Amino acid sequence: MAEIILNHVKKIYDKSVVAVQDFCMEIRDQEFIVLVGPSGCGKSTTLRMIAGLEEISAGEISIGGKVVNRVPPKDRDIAMVFQDYALYPHMTVYDNIAYGLKLRKFPRRVIDQKVREAAAILDITDLLKRKPKALSGGQRQRVAIGRAIVRSPKVFLMDEPLSNLDAKLRNQMRTEIIKLRQRIKTTFVYVTHDQTEAMTLGDRIVIMKEGFVQQIGTPRQVFHDPNNLFVAGFIGTPQMNFFEAQLCREGERYHLELNGRRLEIAPEKQRRLLQYNVQSQSVTAGIRPEYVLLTDAAGFTGQVEVTEMMGSNTHLHLRFGEDEVVVLVPDGDEPVREFSLGETVHFTFHAERIHLFSRETGHNLEHDPREALTTSAQPPEVPSEPEAQAVAEAEAPVAPAATPEPEAAPETDAAPEPETPQESAPTP
Ligand SMILES: Nc1ncnc2c1ncn2[C@@H]1O[C@H](COP(=O)(O)OP(=O)(O)OP(=O)(O)O)[C@@H](O)[C@H]1O
Ligand SMILES: [Mg+2]
Repeated sequence: MAEIILNHVKKIYDKSVVAVQDFCMEIRDQEFIVLVGPSGCGKSTTLRMIAGLEEISAGEISIGGKVVNRVPPKDRDIAMVFQDYALYPHMTVYDNIAYGLKLRKFPRRVIDQKVREAAAILDITDLLKRKPKALSGGQRQRVAIGRAIVRSPKVFLMDEPLSNLDAKLRNQMRTEIIKLRQRIKTTFVYVTHDQTEAMTLGDRIVIMKEGFVQQIGTPRQVFHDPNNLFVAGFIGTPQMNFFEAQLCREGERYHLELNGRRLEIAPEKQRRLLQYNVQSQSVTAGIRPEYVLLTDAAGFTGQVEVTEMMGSNTHLHLRFGEDEVVVLVPDGDEPVREFSLGETVHFTFHAERIHLFSRETGHNLEHDPREALTTSAQPPEVPSEPEAQAVAEAEAPVAPAATPEPEAAPETDAAPEPETPQESAPTP
């Protein structure tokens, strides 16, 4: 059993930088947890504290029922794969995978069996005799994972293991990790800043911002029931639409006033607002582009500013008073509807999919106000599609297969402690 419990875990660097604030979570045995959030939010720090590579400033971490605050990394039965994994260039794939086991003096027969098993799981059996420089980026990545798998760790920690790969390889490897996960029965904690990766891999996702956990939930929960404005804006592409609106309470009934129109609120939402005794107030209303519905004549009107053809659907950007609203229009049956610039279209919002956030705190008004965080008043800035593309390209500028393998061989004799998680990423 390797459940991981983080109990009010905190990390302060240099007595002043609070990297992680009061992290509380119970990770179940064999669960796949993804930590996600913008750069600097404390993901790696959390992972490194679980690994034992970073001391904990306050709180307690236990793994498999045992408090590990003072347990050195090598005794935590953990394997870690980093973003900047490096393979030993002078060794074959086989030897790279076998290396940690050899250092630990496993019998040759056992090593051989473990290496071949791992290679089969990762589909790299044909590559065992090759040197790393004769591999593609994705294949190298699999070797790095193989090196961690053979140790049969209780817990598998991965810190942005795919971020050096180009978009296509990253998608492929993501599928590989899902398959891997089905074959090895281990608890995973996986760090990424990519929300798609988080949504597709995680049993549960932890969304972090500035050291604070913003929400912990299944992909469906964080998508459909975000705890606050930050989570609402961070999860999902295209980003959720946000509008300034007025929540009006009359007795026990609520409705919304938006752009001079009255909007009804779904009964289930009314019930939750009433439960927390929410009063009339200015709110930020949110609705995902998937749930803005085009109508023939009824509802709001907007003018087409931009249309983006995405393949099976179109992203329609409409001018809506002071705001812009993005509508995701699925291509239905032929003939597909075409939109022209400046055209007026009518739309409504799917009433069950409207979210109401406090203008003051950003907290979801359907959630318990005692759980409101104060750092979430703003949704994240999400780059527009072309910018996002540019960012993605800048992140992975080189085709992985062409990435030069580090020249210098790591000092084999002075290799890191065989069982430390660092072993997974020997620094050349
Ligand atoms: N050794 C250190 N000394 C001081 N501050 C640090 C140290 N390591 C990290 N920090 C700070 O702690 C915060 C969290 O860092 P962390 O590496 O956990 O972020 P992250 O979420 O992994 O970000 P990224 O997506 O960029 O990898 C940041 O503000 C960072 O500058
Ligand atoms: Mg990091």
